[in-house]
Amino acid sequence: MKRLAIILIMACAVLWAAGVEAHGPTLKNKETASLASNPKNRGPFELVTHTGRTVTDRDYLGKYMLVYFGYTHCPDVCPIDLQIVSEAVDMLGADGGKVQPLFITVDPKRDTVKVMADYVKHFHPRLIGLTGSKQQIASAAKIYRMQSRKSVPQDAEPGEYLIDHSAAIVLIGPDGGGLSLFPHGITARDIVADIKRYIAP
Ligand code: NI
Repeated sequence: MKRLAIILIMACAVLWAAGVEAHGPTLKNKETASLASNPKNRGPFELVTHTGRTVTDRDYLGKYMLVYFGYTHCPDVCPIDLQIVSEAVDMLGADGGKVQPLFITVDPKRDTVKVMADYVKHFHPRLIGLTGSKQQIASAAKIYRMQSRKSVPQDAEPGEYLIDHSAAIVLIGPDGGGLSLFPHGITARDIVADIKRYIAP
């Protein structure tokens, strides 16, 4: 078990060292940026919150959304990015209320409603975890051009696996269209500066 943990950390470190434009080699950064931050990239999606409620893209119209695709078993990249999203929401102060942070799992098999509920509470009280069927997750990911791919480390124990996935935070506008895409490595301060360009004073 200890050995597996070390392998998991190494796998993630390698991806990270490779630049983690994507959290894995699936998507180049430029490609992601031009596609995901496109106003034409919008719903519809239907997913299930970590409290078990079915929601669609229409539930979030009128708010800015900070959307991150990842999974709860991710050894380090996802927790770092979710921490940054949470910091950004706090740094926005009163304007933070206009922004809904969303964490959409790319691993619905393991990330059940209960697992998501236990996970999101470690980051921000307003962070909503979203899961769903494989099909529901796939169509949501398609909207924002987020890719993911299962990978099994050579020495993994039976049933254990990782998921390489695009690691980028997407800012969606109140009309549901994509506005900005923040690559892994962005700071909360930079995200806040960008959101303030859109939020009227
Ligand atoms: Ni991850």
